[in-house]
Amino acid sequence: MRLRVRPVARLAGSARVPGDKSISHRAALFGAIADGVTEVEGFLESEDCLRTLTAVEAMGAEITRKGPGQYRIAGTGARGFTEPADVVDCGNSGTTARLLIGVLAAQPFHTVLTGDGSLRRRPMARVAEPLRRMGATIDGRAQGTRLPLAVRGGERVRAIEHVSAVASAQVKSAVLLAGLWADAPVSVREPAASRDHTERMLRAFGARVETGECRATVTPGPLRAASVRVPGDISSAAFLMVAGLVAREGGVRLTEVGVNPTRTGIVDVLHAMGAMLAVETAAPASELEPAATVRVAPSALRGTTIAGATIPRLIDEVPVLAVAALAAEGLTEVRDAAELRVKESDRIAAIVRELGKMGARVEDRPDGLAIRGPQRLTGAHVTSGGDHRMAMALAVAGLIAEGETLIDDVGCIETSFPGFAEAINTLAGGPALVVESC
Ligand code: S3P
Repeated sequence: MRLRVRPVARLAGSARVPGDKSISHRAALFGAIADGVTEVEGFLESEDCLRTLTAVEAMGAEITRKGPGQYRIAGTGARGFTEPADVVDCGNSGTTARLLIGVLAAQPFHTVLTGDGSLRRRPMARVAEPLRRMGATIDGRAQGTRLPLAVRGGERVRAIEHVSAVASAQVKSAVLLAGLWADAPVSVREPAASRDHTERMLRAFGARVETGECRATVTPGPLRAASVRVPGDISSAAFLMVAGLVAREGGVRLTEVGVNPTRTGIVDVLHAMGAMLAVETAAPASELEPAATVRVAPSALRGTTIAGATIPRLIDEVPVLAVAALAAEGLTEVRDAAELRVKESDRIAAIVRELGKMGARVEDRPDGLAIRGPQRLTGAHVTSGGDHRMAMALAVAGLIAEGETLIDDVGCIETSFPGFAEAINTLAGGPALVVESC
């Protein structure tokens, strides 16, 4: 599938972005291993999150879809997961693979996890290594560092204190999840704070979790079912925020956006860039995760530096921030973001290459980017390279380019933001984005 993008001057109106991807994965997985029935509302029905649902179903959880985004998950309890009859395909979803390996590291049976071409290239040593120390047997391609991986949990799960080399919520979550079955409390320390949805949700499911600066400790024990209301995904909202800011006219209002402080780096950076952006905190959508209405208006943006502890708070938003930087006056630098090279694609290379086709000059650095704006973009024939966030960032670039942009390989948008084109078209008041089958 490809996307034809026509430039638009005005984006105006209101939208509710789909549910948060990270929180949806966790609701499915935690509900599956808990005692009792978990009710989930606002679940993100995207390809990635449906992979997690299918995987836990294959291990014995009973899933009932009650309506759009509404699920009932009958958990198996801490000792209830059973060996799946077939290989578990995680598709494009790193979160499915890495969080599931954590749970499987504590299950005394054999599972093989695989994924699509992109996921099979992504590093798994970061989760496999600590989980082996906890007693799991994990083997697979490239000396057990790439999917497909075969996992057999140990009979006994040894407690560890893991010091992670990367600020990764997936690594932290995998080790904490295995820790639920450990023989003593399990800790993870990371170089900067990554998103804390796991710690919050573990508590909501009755686990004892202590957190400090860049550190979390879980006390082993069973989970009990809970109700989860999933707020809108700020990482999806980011595309509409930037689109609304770089448009010439209008104003965009996004309702019920998740504003967990470990995810709001995008808001801080857009403010630093001079964005007219307001976060209006309403009554919390759930006690678990804060939510707010976010309003943006067309703004004269200026360049900024994005580095250090801010990076994990906006790691998925860098492709669309590159588009904001192209519209901004002055220099924007992204540093300390080498993790971008091991996402669904090498996002540093993809930003330089694909926005380059639209006339942008972006400096490729080992751990980030440098962009001097403002720069004029010209419509071009580009590709997402199978990366959903690249597809949507290129679409936002196309909205402010001169002439039409054609983006190849956009089926991947379904992994995180079903309805993206419709959301933009509603705000544009016409077909700015047209999906074509090829
Ligand atoms: C996620 C963590 C981040 C993020 C990904 C979702 C999660 O990955 O990029 O989209 O749900 O835990 P890392 O943990 O690899 O940084």
